[in-house]
Amino acid sequence: MITCEWSAQTGWSAPKMGPYGPLSLAPTASVLHYATECYEGMKLYRGRDQRLRIFRPDLNAKRFRRSSIRCTLPDFDPEEMVKLIVALCAIDGPKFLPKDPLRELPDAGPNFIANRLLYIRPTMIGTDPDLGIKPPQTAMLFIIISSFPSMDTLYLSRPAPGLRLLASPSDAVRAWPGGCGAAKLGANYGPSLLAQSDAMRQGYDQVLWLYSQPGSTDPGEQGRVTEAGASNFFVVWRTRQGALELCTAPTSDGTILEGVTRQSVLDLGAQRLEAALKQEGVLAPEEHLEVNERWFTMADVLEATKEGRLLEAFAAGTAVGTPPQHMCTSANQRLNSTLLLRWLRFTIKALMLICRPLKMQSGQ
Ligand SMILES: Cc1ncc(COP(=O)(O)O)c(C=O)c1O
Repeated sequence: MITCEWSAQTGWSAPKMGPYGPLSLAPTASVLHYATECYEGMKLYRGRDQRLRIFRPDLNAKRFRRSSIRCTLPDFDPEEMVKLIVALCAIDGPKFLPKDPLRELPDAGPNFIANRLLYIRPTMIGTDPDLGIKPPQTAMLFIIISSFPSMDTLYLSRPAPGLRLLASPSDAVRAWPGGCGAAKLGANYGPSLLAQSDAMRQGYDQVLWLYSQPGSTDPGEQGRVTEAGASNFFVVWRTRQGALELCTAPTSDGTILEGVTRQSVLDLGAQRLEAALKQEGVLAPEEHLEVNERWFTMADVLEATKEGRLLEAFAAGTAVGTPPQHMCTSANQRLNSTLLLRWLRFTIKALMLICRPLKMQSGQ
């Protein structure tokens, strides 16, 4: 693991590389009492060509900076962060993701990345041992790597493939305007686990987080669909006007985490998806695909399903990939989604595998 200490007086110390192991913290450390913590999550892939890759780590490093600032932790230069991540991957990658000659077979199949990835977790914590409620004067950055199950194999190998989502009850809210939903703070996740465990007890995988603007009677502000568990959420539908739209919640009010996968889906959607859908015959030659970041509600999703306009719903995130959804509202109305946009999902996955390999010493 890599560790790096900071103090308000001296700034960041030189990072240290060492074996994975416990940290030593004062019981009064700021993180333990005031949740001064932020983290990131990305994956290290061993590709079919045996090279090691990380998908867009620069975006994670920039988000890490935004998250640390949100909870008064010190700034860490995103470019330096990527260098540290690469340095750690150069050691742990060859060790825990050894080259596998079997994977070089051309018919390795669609699951060729199963068990061929590691999870990278940069974290920053406030270590200040003073119990006062104030911005920490000392902090620590650490980066660890762990193994991770292949979630899309898990969700897609079911008899009814997909992630099973349960819409959040009205008394459970993940994030709100003025809060910190846009930052990747541990403080966002612990309190969400009660609704998550209720959903799991009922046979679902994750919570589909809805948000209703308090006091508003505007139907467009009731039951807004925000995120799915720890991933962003997309629908592909025909609008009431008949246009084909790829749509996800906007990041403008600070409640939605700006996912790296989300951005990639939006970029690909805007640049390439229309042509691909025309090729598949989903879109007529004269039609256009609209790619929008805008609010929509659970009522919109249910109406589109009832009217046969919902073509696809999927989550997008590093942990889950981009699995399709089987959703349920709290009223237990089941929504079905087709697998129409396999192309998008496949392309995202493929991009993760063909993006620029890490520059490491030869042979890794
Ligand atoms: C709340 C939340 N939304 C969305 C995402 C997806 O982000 P990314 O695609 O960067 O993994 C995550 C995962 O980090 C998350 O925790």
